[in-house]
Amino acid sequence: MLDSFGRKIDYVRISVTDRCDLRCKYCMPNVNPHFFKKDEILSLDKLKLISEALIELGIKKIRITGGEPLVRKDILQYFQYLSEKLKEKMIDELLLTTNGTQLKKYAKKLSQLGVKRINISLDSLIGEKFNFITNGGSLEKVIEGIEHAKECNLSIKINTVLLKNFNEDEIINIMKWCSKNSFTLSFIEVMPVGDTPSSRVSQYLPVTKAKEIIKKEFELQDCSLKSSGPSNYYFCKKLNLFVGFISPISEHFCLTCNRIRVTSNGIIYPCLGDNNSVDLNPFLKEGKNQELLSILKNVIYSKPEKHYFRIDEKSYIKKRFMNTTGG
Ligand code: 5AD
Ligand code: SF4
Repeated sequence: MLDSFGRKIDYVRISVTDRCDLRCKYCMPNVNPHFFKKDEILSLDKLKLISEALIELGIKKIRITGGEPLVRKDILQYFQYLSEKLKEKMIDELLLTTNGTQLKKYAKKLSQLGVKRINISLDSLIGEKFNFITNGGSLEKVIEGIEHAKECNLSIKINTVLLKNFNEDEIINIMKWCSKNSFTLSFIEVMPVGDTPSSRVSQYLPVTKAKEIIKKEFELQDCSLKSSGPSNYYFCKKLNLFVGFISPISEHFCLTCNRIRVTSNGIIYPCLGDNNSVDLNPFLKEGKNQELLSILKNVIYSKPEKHYFRIDEKSYIKKRFMNTTGG
């Protein structure tokens, strides 16, 4: 489907839960985060209804996200269902964004179900710092999960959110580690999605700054690697590493945006950086399929031209955090 700006929309990110076993400081409010109640979360049947309708409208790529998607109890059943769609060639790709804590348990099964690539969020390779930024997480457990995913032949991309006064001193080390493990890497600018206790300005480390740090050590060559995602890739010859930069603040990529998002309580957002949304719940009932299709068509068509993130202003997305919409 094309939107009103002629962009082909064929990619959906579906958040299956807003819960997470970590509490990254920049992601959700770490004191009393609000989670949806159990009965507000989309049931497996409703997830299937939405997926089916989106596939009918031309969605070819589905990324499962959270919160942490692998903490959802029936997650494998949903993957099983999507795996059938993959086998029937109704979709081209089934992807996952995860924090890595549950990979020891799930990597093999995911690989068997046709998941080929996963994105793993990791902002520090130092145990104490990881524990600090995630409010209690264990780096060891995540590394164990990552190693297991690698053994299961899942191709891995590490996503590192650039955080001022936190991980600029680890940029080179994270690159070396990814190189050693044959992972791809993306550095991401922090986005003002949700009001966190510390200001977004105090967290924000622009991509340009990260590139400066890298260029003191390594040469970065422009490269043609194009994912359908927002990463702008370079090749680091010395490390034999592809490294991407996602710069929603300093250089937005809305012109080529091909995706929409569904939250775990059934709200569809045509743009992460915009509060426009539609509640799909009234249409997730037997016999309402035509209505659902027509609502989805409208949402896709009316995708806004671009987001208006400004790091130096109080976010106009105050109450919606990334654990609701997912990465
Ligand atoms: N800005 C940028 N990325 C974020 N993530 C969570 N919150 C933010 C934010 N405010 C990332 C996580 C993970 C994915 C779920 O989104 O690090 O990669
Ligand atoms: Fe959980 Fe990911 Fe948010 Fe961290 S960034 S709290 S791992 S959803």
